[in-house]
Amino acid sequence: MRHFVSVNQLTTEEIYAILRKAESYQKQKVMLNQQLFAANLFFEPSTRTKMSFNVAQKKLGLEILDFHSESSSVLKGESLYDTARTFEAIGSDLLVIRHPSDHWLDELDNRLSIPVINAGAGKEEHPTQCMLDLLTIYQEFGCIEGLKIAIAGDIKHSRVARSNALALQKLGATVFLTAAPGFEDDELELPYISIDEAVEICDVTMLLRIQHERHLHKAETSDYLELYGLTEEREKRMKEQAIIMHPAPINRGVEIDTDLVECRRSRIFKQMENGVYVRMAIMMHVLNEWGIINENNIEKRYSLIANR
Ligand code: CP
Repeated sequence: MRHFVSVNQLTTEEIYAILRKAESYQKQKVMLNQQLFAANLFFEPSTRTKMSFNVAQKKLGLEILDFHSESSSVLKGESLYDTARTFEAIGSDLLVIRHPSDHWLDELDNRLSIPVINAGAGKEEHPTQCMLDLLTIYQEFGCIEGLKIAIAGDIKHSRVARSNALALQKLGATVFLTAAPGFEDDELELPYISIDEAVEICDVTMLLRIQHERHLHKAETSDYLELYGLTEEREKRMKEQAIIMHPAPINRGVEIDTDLVECRRSRIFKQMENGVYVRMAIMMHVLNEWGIINENNIEKRYSLIANR
């Protein structure tokens, strides 16, 4: 049985099945017909991921065991493993975990009898963000294969960059990286181009913030936008149908001009909206794979109004 650690563990067919399921949840309500508990163990700050898991869990009818590491027994020295085992012992059926360590799952693997979903692992992987990005691109273009996609920003410290670079390549996109000196990641064997070239040739420009919390020294950002970011002048040189993405949080005026955050090309808030349905689909996929639910035996209710 697999924990949901990386999009790379999925076949192309499994990725598209989850995206189709997420799309179906945008049109059709689904509600589990058994009592199940999900625990959200966040050891790093989060707004979007934690709250969209919360909304996704409420939409599915999952009971949420909320957890705040700063007021938990972690402060008394309890390990991640013992925290996870505690939630398993008290009846959680699913764990959603974000942790600053790159390899926190190694501490849990093969030692838990409930599934774990990776909600962010250090600078290694952020697979649920990746899946919502794939859904946003797929909905925009109707395909991923053949697209040219630039990932621009602090590649070296970004788990989103790593997850997306691997998954987009797997699905047949051509991926370019663009980064300021020192923000490149040699482990990703992809071509680096300038932001000026990226905006002219790419269908998607995916911006990343500078991950100050993972730097030893705070980076200087006064001329970052002009040199490496998406300015209004660069936006004007993008292809007619090209879109702007960003996993957020955004540092307005650093990696992107503030007036572009909600411009016609921006899908930034669409990404957040898609995050709810993708996370519903991922939880259903994992619960089904672990035999905790039988997807053929759940209540589905058609909605006459938009499912918001
Ligand atoms: N994109 C993302 O992971 O945002 P949060 O850190 O707010 O969850």
